[in-house]
Amino acid sequence: MRKPWSAADSVPAEHRLQATLSWPHLMALGVGAIVGTGILTLIGVGAAKAGPAVILAFLIAGAICACAALAYAEMATMMPAAGGAYTYAYIIIGEWAAWFVGWSLILEYSLVVSAVAVGWSGYAAPLLQDGLGVPMQWMQGPELGGLINLPAIFIILVVIALLLIGTKESASVNALLVVVKLAALLVFIVVVLPLFKAEHFQPFMPFGFIKTMGADGVERGVMASAAIIFFAFYGFDAIATAAEETRNPDRDLAIGIVGSMLICVAIYIAVAVAALGALDFHRFADSPEPLALILRELGRPNAARWLAASAVIALPTVVLAFFYGQSRIFFAMARDGLLPRGLAKVSRRGMPVRTKLFTAVIVSTIAGVFPLADIAALANAGTLLAFITVSVCMLLLRHRQPEMVRKFSAPFAWVTGPMAIVGCLYLFISLPSTTQLYFLVWNLIGVAVYYVYGSRQTAKTG
Ligand code: ALA
Repeated sequence: MRKPWSAADSVPAEHRLQATLSWPHLMALGVGAIVGTGILTLIGVGAAKAGPAVILAFLIAGAICACAALAYAEMATMMPAAGGAYTYAYIIIGEWAAWFVGWSLILEYSLVVSAVAVGWSGYAAPLLQDGLGVPMQWMQGPELGGLINLPAIFIILVVIALLLIGTKESASVNALLVVVKLAALLVFIVVVLPLFKAEHFQPFMPFGFIKTMGADGVERGVMASAAIIFFAFYGFDAIATAAEETRNPDRDLAIGIVGSMLICVAIYIAVAVAALGALDFHRFADSPEPLALILRELGRPNAARWLAASAVIALPTVVLAFFYGQSRIFFAMARDGLLPRGLAKVSRRGMPVRTKLFTAVIVSTIAGVFPLADIAALANAGTLLAFITVSVCMLLLRHRQPEMVRKFSAPFAWVTGPMAIVGCLYLFISLPSTTQLYFLVWNLIGVAVYYVYGSRQTAKTG
């Protein structure tokens, strides 16, 4: 069963979100959501898998994400209702597809919140250890020999409090923090790039191109790296889920999505070239705070502290943006009856409060105990499924209703759309095999929940 096109406009007032956002807010939300643990921390994990060719991994993941961003922009301007990919799938493909996309988005948004909180903790821990004497065992998960990652849990609670204050206020704070984050990366580039040594790029591709299992049981290669680095590029989709709260969706969403994506691709490549040119990748590959480590190794301890402090101040913008998107997925699915309707209750300020509290408990538990690379890889799996679906939706709609007015038309859609689909599939098969297995399990749980709860509820309400 497909959802009627106009359904997004006809929701009852008490279930409707306030339209408070315009494009500068969206752009800030976009960059705020995109630049985060991917470039600050996973660059090390990516380098461990690809060597200097992690640059190639950045280019491949960025190109695939850019193609998906175009599809997102086209769909978001046509259907500006909370829910993003979930809503497009519901309208264009049908309920079961919407369920799987929604189920994947719940995974994506929840795990990104957890992953970025762990990344935040990586930069915060040395500062907390030096400044307050907090023992490391309370600031790392069990895989690094710690007990529990308390800073990761703490930052999630802080962001929840910020979100409960209200959408617009949070978005403005977010805009300020985005400036701090970008300034830190620009300083990194300016300080590190002059120390570039071409020999650090030799050999360029020590682990080959396609995903290959090493003798130690670890999967490596440029594509294995790209499948992790992909994490660094998404976040613009969190803007699409905010479409219903946008004052002027047709213009603002396209500027917000495409603009923030392009800015991030440019900055990442510059940071990656600077980092790899300055230091042999082996020396920062496994660090929980690789960019700060590079600055220290190059004899710039003050710049390192400054970068760590900026990350600590600004990374919560990513947590904020994904929480923002995540609670809206719950909200959209609950509004349609696929999840308990209690989750769709909005408060006086137009914010689904209950949803946030419910999810905060889950994501902080995950952040407290699981390793960053594993959380990020599974988040990527959910995102890849959503991106594939959005691109399929864009092409299906172009085929079915070519004459429809599109306020933003993805350029060369019949090239970029298929590129996004094939690219995302290739990234998916390049993810660690264990991640693919966990994703399968998540979806099997999804099938069960759908048949036990979701499909019955929607059948009841028709
Ligand atoms: N792109 C976001 C990050 O790198 C999820 O943190």
